[in-house]
Amino acid sequence: MVEMWYMDESPGDQRKPHRLEPNQPVSLEQLRRLGVFYWKLDADIYETDPDLAKIRKENNYSWMDIITIHKDKLPDYEEKIKIFYEEHLHLDDEIRYTLEGSGYIDVRDKDDKWIRIAMEKGDMITLPAGIYHRFTLDESNYMKAMRLFAGEPVWTAYNRPADHFPVRVQYLQFLAQAFQ
Ligand code: LAC
Ligand code: NI
Repeated sequence: MVEMWYMDESPGDQRKPHRLEPNQPVSLEQLRRLGVFYWKLDADIYETDPDLAKIRKENNYSWMDIITIHKDKLPDYEEKIKIFYEEHLHLDDEIRYTLEGSGYIDVRDKDDKWIRIAMEKGDMITLPAGIYHRFTLDESNYMKAMRLFAGEPVWTAYNRPADHFPVRVQYLQFLAQAFQ
């Protein structure tokens, strides 16, 4: 089962778990209220998986590619690893499906605290446009992931602060409603 927790804010290796002591777990329901959705799929059959096909059809995730995040596989690895971990938002939803390996997606909660989502094989997630987030490999140093997109992909990341974008304003309105 996918695991999420509030992060400690200590500096140091981003690839370590950074759990609070004692651990403060986060539920899928808490993630849903932030507009983050999760599916568990069978990554061994991703090429023919009818459940994946259904999710793609229902959400219009027409586009996809596969990215391997490993020092020997990803061009400009060190630079990309740094960019992925800069807190940012996008103007569109970000959809990631872990096919092999593992890593952490961190998202800000409504009080601006970091929640760490431990993405492992079979975990698929969608982050809403306008949420601040970042990504890092964990200590396994390897992830193969499917990137999906509704329509033609735009990967532009706007580093924080990016509060003037309409999608950010809309996301904050969504949060205000979810927690009223
Ligand atoms: C991305 C991840 C790093 O934008 O959030 O690709
Ligand atoms: Ni992103």
